[in-house]
Amino acid sequence: MMELKIQLIPTGEIILSPGKNGENHCHNCKVVASDGVRAMMESALTARDRVGVQDFVLLENYTSEAAFIENLRKRFKENLIYTYIGSVLVSVNPYKDLEIYTKNHMERYRGVNFYEVSPHIYAVADNSYRSMRTEGKDQCILISGESGAGKTEASKKILQYYAVTCPASEQVQTVKDRLLQSNPVLEAFGNAKTLRNDNSSRFGKYMDIQFDFKGAPVGGHIINYLLEKSRVVHQNHGERNFHIFYQLIEGGEEDLLRHLGLERNPQQYQYLIKGNCPKVSSINDRSDWKVVRKALTVIGFSENEVEELLNIIASVLHLGNVQYGGEDSNACITSDIQIKYLARLLGVNVSVLTEALTHKKIIAKGEELMSPLNLEQASSARDALAKAVYGRTFTWLVNKINASLTYTSDSSKNYSVIGLLDIYGFEVFQHNSFEQFCINYCNEKLQQLFIELTLKSEQDEYEAEGITWEPVQYFNNKIICDLVEEKFKGIISILDEECLRPGDASDLTFLEKLEDTVGGHAHFVTHKLADAKTRKVMGRDEFRLLHYAGEVNYNAKRTLRVCLQVMCMSENKILTQCFNREELSDKKRPDTAATQFKASLAKLMEILMSKEPSYVRCIKPNDSKQSGRFDEVLIRHQVKYLGLMENLRVRRAGFAYRRRYEVFLQRYKSLCPGTWPNWDGKLSDGVSTLVKHLGYKPEEYKMGRSKIFIRFPKTLFATEDALETRKHSLATKLQAGWKGYSQKCKYQKLRNSVQAWWRGILARRRAQRRRQAANTIRRFIKGFIYRHKERCPENEYFLDYVRYSFLMNLCKNLPKNVLDKSWPTPPAALTEASEHLRKMCMQNMVWSYCKKISPEWKHQMEQKMIASEIFKDKKDNYPQSVPKLFVSTRLDGENINPKVVQALGSEKMKYAVPVTKYDRRGYKPRPRQLLLTANSAVIAEEGKLKQRIDYGALKGISVSSLSDGVFVLHVPSEDNKQKGDVVLQSDHVIETLTKIAICADKINTININQGSIKFTMGQGKEGIIDFTPGSELLVAKAKNGHLSVTAPRLNSR
Ligand SMILES: Nc1ncnc2c1ncn2[C@@H]1O[C@H](COP(=O)(O)OP(=O)(O)O)[C@@H](O)[C@H]1O
Ligand SMILES: [Mg+2]
Repeated sequence: MMELKIQLIPTGEIILSPGKNGENHCHNCKVVASDGVRAMMESALTARDRVGVQDFVLLENYTSEAAFIENLRKRFKENLIYTYIGSVLVSVNPYKDLEIYTKNHMERYRGVNFYEVSPHIYAVADNSYRSMRTEGKDQCILISGESGAGKTEASKKILQYYAVTCPASEQVQTVKDRLLQSNPVLEAFGNAKTLRNDNSSRFGKYMDIQFDFKGAPVGGHIINYLLEKSRVVHQNHGERNFHIFYQLIEGGEEDLLRHLGLERNPQQYQYLIKGNCPKVSSINDRSDWKVVRKALTVIGFSENEVEELLNIIASVLHLGNVQYGGEDSNACITSDIQIKYLARLLGVNVSVLTEALTHKKIIAKGEELMSPLNLEQASSARDALAKAVYGRTFTWLVNKINASLTYTSDSSKNYSVIGLLDIYGFEVFQHNSFEQFCINYCNEKLQQLFIELTLKSEQDEYEAEGITWEPVQYFNNKIICDLVEEKFKGIISILDEECLRPGDASDLTFLEKLEDTVGGHAHFVTHKLADAKTRKVMGRDEFRLLHYAGEVNYNAKRTLRVCLQVMCMSENKILTQCFNREELSDKKRPDTAATQFKASLAKLMEILMSKEPSYVRCIKPNDSKQSGRFDEVLIRHQVKYLGLMENLRVRRAGFAYRRRYEVFLQRYKSLCPGTWPNWDGKLSDGVSTLVKHLGYKPEEYKMGRSKIFIRFPKTLFATEDALETRKHSLATKLQAGWKGYSQKCKYQKLRNSVQAWWRGILARRRAQRRRQAANTIRRFIKGFIYRHKERCPENEYFLDYVRYSFLMNLCKNLPKNVLDKSWPTPPAALTEASEHLRKMCMQNMVWSYCKKISPEWKHQMEQKMIASEIFKDKKDNYPQSVPKLFVSTRLDGENINPKVVQALGSEKMKYAVPVTKYDRRGYKPRPRQLLLTANSAVIAEEGKLKQRIDYGALKGISVSSLSDGVFVLHVPSEDNKQKGDVVLQSDHVIETLTKIAICADKINTININQGSIKFTMGQGKEGIIDFTPGSELLVAKAKNGHLSVTAPRLNSR
């Protein structure tokens, strides 16, 4: 969090500064967080409020002048020189430097609402600036007050404020510098020390500051009003000529002075010693000279221009020293050297100059004649020339500054303006000449404007708008303005008339004419018309005007019209611009100075009326330029004639702010849902809805016919604050919308380009693939054509591909089991490899098949193999036996008589099967059991072992090729133990015989016979078994004594 230091300085002002820079070494500095600042400021403001009130509107006894002055006094004592009356700033000249114009102060007032901070000239400046920016209306700040009240200082402060706080580019910086630097130059040539003010402006100044649409100052324009030229030749006691003369003499370099023929001693110059005070303690002419010289360069004066300008200044001093002598009626110049210098500096011929200073031009009978002047006339002519030269040079200077401040943008019309009016204040001297008359007339006009814009127009407006209103009485000085400026009847008209009259108009005829015309006017008095008391303080050649600000006696003496033709011949470039030959030779008399002045004032009023005014009313606390002295009488006088009390009364009764309904609604409609974005109904209803929504209390505003009136500034400021917040949120919304939109655009653009890029990639890939494919096809075709050739580049791809695809195909379609004999056809080149592979594959399948078979199954298969060896393709019922598994035995322990088992003894039985035995004689079938042991085959009947045939004795086994189950076990006939060969029949003949062949190891001794089998029946007798195929199995003794076996044919061979 940023830290700020709050410093309460002796003036009661608060200074805020960043805590880190350590510039403030005060003891009572408090370091606070920035959010504490406001609270601190507010409490500080409350503290300040105890010193009177910041705004006279808050004054309890607001109709009391004493209370008003007391408030001013209290605050002045505490160095609080600024107080408001509503939005009008009252400023009392402190005559000392207060620490209230620092950059920190400027920052504090920047962009802050009027009522939030203590009254200050910066608040007025900032308020005007913001009004200009937000409402787009040109502004003007009118600074009024009498001489020495602080007007010029105020205008400088305002200018500095803009220079520091407004945004600026490099180009603007130049303009700022020039705006600021124009001040010392104009002050050097247009200000002088007077009794009231050591730096009194002796000309009126209206300055436009132009701002571009960004609010940066980009140009300026100055209008000057009636320089007090009489000062060039005469100063009252205690006063000085314009500063520039003293600055040149005190500060000018030796070479320069030599060149100009000047001495470093003001006492030497008649025009500088009339007031008898060439030196002033508060003024340092030498350092001021340096400032002015530099400023001239900044503004853009060339060396030549500066030289010519100084030539003119020097020539005025020389003119003052021109001495006359000779006869009274025929003056001649006695100071030759002066004339020579003069001629050189002014760039004119010596004799022409001499004549111009000693003669006047008269027109007699249509002819121009030069007539000599008397001594008095001659010195008048000399002074008139000096004044004319100086006055016109001053105007030239202003024009030159204007040229350097001109806004040079292309859109030159497109700027807003803040005008600053710092015009000479009302003044009263012992002897008041025509110039004072003009100055005071000007002040009457400004007062009129103030009345028009604040008091009168305000009250007129309430009436027009139908607002109930108690009129406030005030003195309207229009009557005095009319006295001065009315056509035909006004003082200026009479003066014109007198000047135009041919012949020598005397001052008295002018006075008489005045008495005749305006003699009865309440504000006009002459010696003749005055009462005895007034007569004592009036000369006979004077007239008195009762101004709104006081009474002033004016001298009715008029000055001689001088012959200025000589100046047209000057070689000095500035003077040739100042003195226009055509203008001077014009036969028609130009307007008198008074008429010109009147016209320029009328123009000024027009300019000011077209702008929104702010007022700074300056008050001088005492006549002796002393700090801390509060001269109550003097101040009461100023409060009175400045109309501050009336101002306050109108303010108190009135409304601080008013706006036409449409303008108000347009500006604030966004603050109320009912009026946003548009209000369709009556404007006044819209405004009512709006202010009700904003929570305005009934006493805070009034609705007129076309305008809303708001009583207190704070109500409006609160509304402004709300608008500011609302604007931010609207702006944020807009910004967000815009950001979203632009991001979307960006995204779309990006997406499009990414898509395009991606499409490009895809297209390129596709193209590449197509190319590759085409190549492949091309190579393939070529390879196909060359396929029977030796391997060569043309066919290698093809051949490889064919091999590859064969192998891949093989890989996917390998035989699934040992019985599957399928195998893809290999290409020629792979025939051999294919054969190897096929074998390997088969071996592999066999191997893995074998690995999987169990011992039982193996045993079974071995038996089946043996069966196959013996019977395959030999016996008709063999194929039927293949799918039937061999069993280990067909008779188990239960089915064999235990006696038989016992008889077998230790011989382990390997296989037993029920069989049918055919007797050797008669062939009677008898059921028997055939048991196989390790050594012999045993035939058992119930519990009896009928016959045992050792395997060694088994000569052979015979069986038919048909599907019957009859078989013969051959035994040796010589063996007595045996009763002959045994004829048996088994339902499982293949199994039974295979088992016997295995047990007896007689695989090769099984004979498979076709047709018949011979066997021995014992004792050498022979039996025959005939086998014939038939429809069904039939075993019986045939008529021929053979055993006939008919067996069905199962397999067609
Ligand atoms: N705000 C101020 N702070 C300090 N001194 C001031 C201030 N205003 C005026 N003065 C003093 O008063 C003198 C006269 O002020 P100035 O502005 O020239 O008067 P005006 O232009 O009204 O005749 C200045 O030279 C200065 O010394
Ligand atoms: Mg001034």
